Amino acid sequence: MIPTPHIEAKNQNEIAKTVLMPGDPLRAKFIADTFLEDVVQFNEVRNMLGYTGTYKGRKISVMASGMGMPSIGIYSYELYEFYGVENIIRIGSCGGYTEKVKLYDVILAMDAWSESSYAKVQGGYDKEIIESTESLNVKLTEYAKDLNIPMHRERIHSSDVFYRENFEEYQEIYQKHGCVGVEMEAFALFHNAKVLGKKAACLLTVSDNLATKEATTSEERQNAFTNMMKIALEMAE
Ligand code: HPA
Repeated sequence: MIPTPHIEAKNQNEIAKTVLMPGDPLRAKFIADTFLEDVVQFNEVRNMLGYTGTYKGRKISVMASGMGMPSIGIYSYELYEFYGVENIIRIGSCGGYTEKVKLYDVILAMDAWSESSYAKVQGGYDKEIIESTESLNVKLTEYAKDLNIPMHRERIHSSDVFYRENFEEYQEIYQKHGCVGVEMEAFALFHNAKVLGKKAACLLTVSDNLATKEATTSEERQNAFTNMMKIALEMAE
């Protein structure tokens, strides 16, 4: 069933087996412009930009997911199920829940805890934690080490809500569930990989910290996020 309602590529070979997924379409463009060679754009539907190119001579794609679980749920499902994609590495930002994770630190999400109904509605999965794929995590850990980039390996919170009325609830989520930070997509991505027999991982850069109240500007983020991008780009094959 390609093209799909949301991705206009006409052939599976337009998209690599491994796709990096930032939330922001302009970040996908930045990665393609900055790091990839022989770039071909394969998607512009809804401006959810997608590109395929080579990194150090190896094929890789990068496509935006949009914000939130419904959005990444659609794009990751279509990439896995209809375009034959095997690996999706989300590369995003997160809010820190503890001072243990500093601004710009990189976190590899070993699993995601969520109160979201995404996995239950999608496939009847009624637990609150979903793991990322161990074999991808092993590789990403090795690449981070080779690149000399320190990386936390922790549980994160995937939230459906950015603006909570009671934002202090983060403290309970950290203490009770052990989540060191919050983002809004990993739980749905990990679930889709699980039901479709595919692989998923998630690298996050801390863009703000709820405990220390520090924040970054969108301009600072662009540059600081290159560490995480370089680790993920090594997944090209
Ligand atoms: N909440 C949810 N997602 C985020 C945040 C946050 O504070 N910061 C970056 N992504």
